[in-house]
Amino acid sequence: MITGKRILLIISGGIAAYKSLALIRRLKERGASVRCVLTSGGAQFVTPLSVAALSEDAVYQDLFSLKDESEMGHIRLSREADLLVVAPASADLMAKMANGHANDLASTILLATDKPVLIAPAMNTRMWDHPATQRNFQTLIGDGLHAIGPGAGDLACGEVGSGRMSEPLEIVAAIEGILSGGPDTLHGRPLQGRRAIVTSGPTYEAIDPVRYLANRSSGKQGHAIAAALADLGAEVVLVAGPNNLADPTGVTVRDIESAAQMLAACESALPADIAVCAAAVADWRVAGEAEQKMKKDGSGQPPALNLVENPDILATLSKLNGTRPGLVVGFSAETETVVEHARAKRARKGCDWIVANDVGAGTGVMGGDQNTVHLITADGEENWPTMAKDAVATALARRIAEFFDADFDAD
Ligand code: CTP
Repeated sequence: MITGKRILLIISGGIAAYKSLALIRRLKERGASVRCVLTSGGAQFVTPLSVAALSEDAVYQDLFSLKDESEMGHIRLSREADLLVVAPASADLMAKMANGHANDLASTILLATDKPVLIAPAMNTRMWDHPATQRNFQTLIGDGLHAIGPGAGDLACGEVGSGRMSEPLEIVAAIEGILSGGPDTLHGRPLQGRRAIVTSGPTYEAIDPVRYLANRSSGKQGHAIAAALADLGAEVVLVAGPNNLADPTGVTVRDIESAAQMLAACESALPADIAVCAAAVADWRVAGEAEQKMKKDGSGQPPALNLVENPDILATLSKLNGTRPGLVVGFSAETETVVEHARAKRARKGCDWIVANDVGAGTGVMGGDQNTVHLITADGEENWPTMAKDAVATALARRIAEFFDADFDAD
């Protein structure tokens, strides 16, 4: 129900702006009030007069208009709305939003708002597919915006492909979904409201203040999984061992060094619905780390390092009582009989799923960008094709979304 809700509709430049006129009508029919902001590009496609007539309100166009600012400042426009809808969201306006520009009324309102924002992208298919637009779109999703579409089909420019703005009634349904606070069925955010913990990277186990034991994990797979879960709307805490990667957008990162610190950071991130342990945790640490740098004693004999076993984070999370995450996923890096070892590991550690991969010599998995994995669940195993680590992360995140919402289609 959207009766009585206040929608601020921002119409940016694009042929799809004509559909926004129908959107105003569909919203008004349902009892919502609609106030409109028209960008200069939008005004090339629909007139302020038709927008004003349909919305039965003034149309706001100019950031520096004395009249507009005195009657209705840009902050008030956002404050007096329950939801901001950008339809059509042009490539240019999305780029401005993703980069925090505020050089016209629409971008200023979007930067100043603390209200939910829904974007309905619409543009030429090549513009949509361009890496810059895809990057901006992912940034906006990571920032917590809602999105609907674009759909695929015949475009006004005569080409065929993705870029078509969603139909007014689809946008209305998305608005109803957001404003009802119900399960989010929108494009790409099925994990909204779910909390996830992801471990990533190696751990460093100190020998003395300058030396440590470590392994070759880059953290690429774990970081990509954290990003993919966040893209699907999850609130993600990434517990990361030392790495050279950028922090994924929209993810809370807890940097740690040792396995003990990793476990403590995971425990303090509970409760969570999802735990994905992708870190290459050192199995052992040095008992009694030396307080000072260890010196050669002149005997020619190396010092003996006394190793003790580290806590198993995956097994600890899997065996929690009461606060066990609903889905616990482990990784299994093997160099031989990959699936058999992974099955045994799943049983031993008590996790729900194991993502098994072959890290043997010649696979290039450790530190590389590709991964060939098998997903082991209670129901059996799936052999996934070799994919980029980002693609493995996306596929896994979608499977996780499907686990929590059987209606969500992971394929
Ligand atoms: N793991 C963990 N804490 C540890 C060791 C491993 O959380 N102390 C997790 C890893 O993040 C991964 C899974 O357990 O999800 C498997 O780790 P792996 O090192 O491959 O397995 P091991 O338990 O070490 O078994 P094995 O030595 O037989 O390979």
